[in-house]
Amino acid sequence: QNSDTKVLLSMYKEVARLYSHILNKTANGEPALKYLDGRDITSELIDHFDIGYAPNNSQILLQLFKDKNISDEIMRKSGLFSENQDGELFDRFRDRVMFPIKDEAGNIIAFSGRILNKADSTAKYMNSPETPIFSKSKVLFNLDSAKKTIRDKQNVILFEGFMDVISAYKAGVSNGVASMGTSLTDQQLYTLGRLTNQINICYDGDDPGVEATYRALTQLTDNKFNYGVISIPDKQDPDEYIRSAGSDKFRQLTENSVQSPISFILDYYKRHYNLSNELEQMEFLKKALQEIAKLDSPVAIDMYVGRVADELNISKDSVNKELANLKRKTA
Ligand code: UTP
Ligand code: MN
Ligand code: MN
Ligand code: MN
Ligand code: MN
Repeated sequence: QNSDTKVLLSMYKEVARLYSHILNKTANGEPALKYLDGRDITSELIDHFDIGYAPNNSQILLQLFKDKNISDEIMRKSGLFSENQDGELFDRFRDRVMFPIKDEAGNIIAFSGRILNKADSTAKYMNSPETPIFSKSKVLFNLDSAKKTIRDKQNVILFEGFMDVISAYKAGVSNGVASMGTSLTDQQLYTLGRLTNQINICYDGDDPGVEATYRALTQLTDNKFNYGVISIPDKQDPDEYIRSAGSDKFRQLTENSVQSPISFILDYYKRHYNLSNELEQMEFLKKALQEIAKLDSPVAIDMYVGRVADELNISKDSVNKELANLKRKTA
């Protein structure tokens, strides 16, 4: 570690402690505490995830670090400040619930702050910028705490967001991490690959979440990994599902309803094509067979050929012939 890194890490640690104090122990934190309570975030969870509150004041961190004689240069590097037109620094995070983001060893290296009311026109979550200690594409939220369980259970659950990871943890599912909205990067995969080769994708059940799952399954072709899909019903996200259906239902979902990629993809195409229209039936058949052709297991191939045949009300035999044609053409 060079000395900048050391100073930056100690700054983040100190800021997290301050934000946590403001949330839990001061009148300024009360609306944020109420907000968290409204989302069923207990004080145990606040402690475990080191959640805090950045008050509506642009000089809190500025003053803190000025008093400690931290140089202007380091303050600029830290990502904790924004700059006005005159080049003067002010606190980047204001009036937000603060989620510390940690590296694999548990050092706080960044923050994401959520606004209390979404009426606001600013982004729902504001993240630290890239700094010498934080590169968003390399980090997975909660990896430090989930690591042991991921190794023990030999699978990781990949969520979109902070609240999904936190609610899952509350529900007793502690092998969850979040890619923080972005699609999974090679560096994140590499990190996970050192712990397990089973990645279960549990993105939001809304359209963007389903599209992102489809993209991940068709684009992440590193065959080091096995993927599974945990689909959340009713267009909810995992956090909303846990709150409405309960922890037991969610745990069952993560244990007993992990879908294979091909099964998810066939369901996805089924929803995207109007199977009462002949042209779309052919389109569905083509897309489905392209995915089935990628499978290795003869049993799996037979099973999904059967499913496609059923779906289209045609013979398995003709679907098999079509598959053979496709394989011949692409060979
Ligand atoms: P979502 O839009 O699904 O938000 O984004 P959410 O996690 O359900 O948020 P809540 O429940 O309303 O609090 C998924 C994730 O994408 C990242 C965050 O990591 C978020 O958790 N994101 C989203 C951002 O970084 N910035 C944003 O403005 C929005
Ligand atoms: Mn989402
Ligand atoms: Mn959403
Ligand atoms: Mn969501
Ligand atoms: Mn949510």
